[in-house]
Formats: sequence, C-alpha cells, structure tokens
Amino acid sequence: MNTETSSDKPWAGRFNEPTDAFVEAFTASVGFDRRLYRYDIEGSIAHATMLARQSILTAAERDVIVNGLTRVRERIDAGEFEWSIPLEDVHMNIEAALTRDIGDTGKKLHTGRSRNDQVATDIRLYLRAEINAIRVEIGRLQRAILDRAEREVESVMPGFTHLQVAQPITFGHHLMAWFEMLQRDRERFADCRRRVDILPLGAAALAGTTYPIDPRYTAELLGFAHPAENSLDAVSDRDFILEFSAAAAILMMHLSRFSEELILWSSARFGFVELSDAFCTGSSIMPQKKNPDVPELVRGKAGRIFGHLMGLLTLMKGQPLAYNKDNQEDKEPLFDTVDNLKGSLKVFADMIGALQCNAERMRAAARQGFATATDLADYLVRKGIPFRDAHEIVGQAVALGIREGKDLSELPLEKLRQFSADIAEDVFAVLTLDGSVAARDHIGATAPVRVRAAIARARERMADD
Ligand code: ARG
Repeated sequence: MNTETSSDKPWAGRFNEPTDAFVEAFTASVGFDRRLYRYDIEGSIAHATMLARQSILTAAERDVIVNGLTRVRERIDAGEFEWSIPLEDVHMNIEAALTRDIGDTGKKLHTGRSRNDQVATDIRLYLRAEINAIRVEIGRLQRAILDRAEREVESVMPGFTHLQVAQPITFGHHLMAWFEMLQRDRERFADCRRRVDILPLGAAALAGTTYPIDPRYTAELLGFAHPAENSLDAVSDRDFILEFSAAAAILMMHLSRFSEELILWSSARFGFVELSDAFCTGSSIMPQKKNPDVPELVRGKAGRIFGHLMGLLTLMKGQPLAYNKDNQEDKEPLFDTVDNLKGSLKVFADMIGALQCNAERMRAAARQGFATATDLADYLVRKGIPFRDAHEIVGQAVALGIREGKDLSELPLEKLRQFSADIAEDVFAVLTLDGSVAARDHIGATAPVRVRAAIARARERMADD
C-alpha cells in the first residue's frame, strides 16, 4: 500500500496545508473498504450508464468510462492494483485509477453523486449478495440436519428440562427442533433483504442533485426493488445493517446452543455422539484428550457477533441527519459478522454430516431418571383418576424406585398396585420407551410417525424458496 502524503486529493481545492500524516492514516478506510471494490465498480458502471441515458454524459464518454472501470476491476482482481492511503477509501482509489487510465473523462464519473450515496449503495450491493450466500449456507445446514434426522427417527433419547431427564423423545425430534430454529433464521434474512434492496444512489451528498438523473433506471440496472424515497434518509440509514446484525446475532445464539449440546453429548458423561476427528483437536499435555474445539469456537464466536450488534447500535444512536464520518465505522463489524457467520455455518454443516451417534447410550440414558413417569400418570388419568392425584401416586412410585434402584418399568406389578388398585398388567406397555414416544402422536410431537411427517413437510417448505 502506498502511504506517502499526496496533495492531489480530489477535494484538495479549499485546503492550504496538507493533511497531517497521522490523521491521513487515521481517517483512511481503504485498508478495509477495498473489499467493496466489485460493488463500487458495478455501481459506477450503472451510474455512468444512467448519466448517458439522461444525456448528462455522451455515449462515447460512457463507453470510455465503462471500459476503463472494467480494466480497473481486472487489475484489482489480478492483485495488480496499488491501493493508496492518501486517497482515503475504495471510492477515490478507483476513481483516481480510472482518471490516470482514461484521462479527463474519468473526472466526469462523479457528476450527480457523492461518496455518501456511493458508499451506501456499495454496502447494500455487498450485503444483498452476502445474504443470498448466507441463506444458501443455512439451507445446507438444514439439509444436513434433515438427512441426519431421517436416520434417527426411532432413536430414543432422554428429553431434558433443567438439564434433568424429563420425558423420552427421539433424536430425530430433537434435531427437527434445530431445523425449526434455522428455518426462522433463513426467513429473517429474507425479510431483512427486502429492506437492503433499496437504491440510495441519486441522494448525492444529502439533498439530491441538480442534474436530471433517473434513479429508477439506476435501480433497475443494479437490480434494486426501488430507489430510496428520501435523500437524507438514503445517505444516513444503516437500519439494514442493524437488522442484518440482529438476525446474525440470533442465528449465532442458535449455533451456540447447538454447540453447547454437542459439547455435552460428546463428553464421557453423556457419550451420545462422537464428533469426527476432523472437527476436534488433542491436548499438548494430556494424551487421552479429544476436545470439541469446533463447537466451542462457534459458541465463543457468538460473543463477538453480539458485540458487533451493540457496537453498531451505539454507532448510530447519536447521529444527526444526514451523513457523518461515524458511519465509516459500520464496515469492520459488518464484515467480521459476515465472515464469522459464514464460517460457523459451513463448519457446522460439515460437522453434522460427519457426526456419529451412539443410539444405545441414548436409549440407556432414557431408561434412567424415570422418564416415563408422566406416561404412568396419564395411564391413571385414563383409568378415571384426576391428574393431580395421579401425579401424587406416581411420585410415590418413583420414590420407591429410587430406594430400590429400579426404573418404574422394572418394579413388579404387586409393588405398583400398592399405590393404586387401578394399575393392571397393561401398564407395562406405557412404561416402555418406545410406547412412550409412540403415544405422543399429534402434530408437533415426538412419535416416529409424526417426526417422519415433519421431515417430509420440512423438505417441501425448503423447496418452496
Ligand atoms: N469512507 C467513507 C465511509 O465509509 C465514504 C464516504 C465518505 N464521505 C465523506 N463525506 N467523507 O463512510
């Protein structure tokens, strides 16, 4: 990167002294906003095309500008572009390179626009593309979950509340809970994209421009739904970044919860799953260790994404209309959110695909902890006992089981009948794990037939968009 102080800045006209060298570096954004170069050039090509259509540029000028911008893009793509800090940001770097290349015609590109509407346009183009990519990644993770759930429809495990064994469920049903969370995430990003899909270009610095521009046409060229309704709002609005950041925070919260479960389940205490070696590392001191680094890191990354949301809200809260330089601070947290979100999604989809499940361990865990106690209470209710009384009776049976070190299904009928004469031989059907999950047979519940149907519907819901 070229760091020497330059006196030929595009705005040097009203200044008598050169910029302080430290201030120049301090205020420059090219170190990070250069990643927007493709979108900056795409926006400039659309702008020049619109200017020519409105006879603000000639067709010949447009062609020279468009060809020049295309060559600049090729140079940046090839890594042959020298970025300059005195030229501050991606916008002025590209414009200066264009003018060096094609001469004075390059100086006409900035007619009827400002960096304020330009940068807002660049970020929207960037974020629209990234949202599409993120939605594809969420979909890939959802499919990995569906494929896994399909194989685990009959695998019984304990369902937990308070991390205490509550009732038997199937692993397929648990995985489908993850699917639902991700489905909402994917919808949230689609909703957020509707408000990203608005063109700020034409707002110029803040008030619009005196040239007869046609923002509708520029919007059409760039594939935006429509131009912004208000120029002051167009250059200063960053709500779409906040919404994106909030959707990202919720998604990371979900991935963090999944991570927490995988970490617990892969521990020796649970032994429900084994993470593939490819997603774990060892310890430099303890030879026996296989650590679940990937889910731990994803859980950790949720913290920085939440932090970015807070940072961005705080960035915006004190700003008067319209553009302020504060806004330059929106990019690093946004880029970091996008990068870490995409990385976390990718690694998670791969990890779920390679997960090994220990169905025997899960079933054995469900046999402990009196997971079918509610089933016994429901059985008594079916025999005409009010639920509260049934609850009390089963509580006593559980206390006996604890004293004898036995599950309810292992207590002999005579012992169970001590608590209620309504208990008969048929009770054992409801005390089995498979009987328990099969009995929860309605939409949204854990019975294998229901989970199979939920998976089929989920595949259709995904195909819908
Ligand atoms: N680098 C600036 C940003 O990221 C571009 C817009 C600068 N506009 C200005 N009036 N200084 O926000």
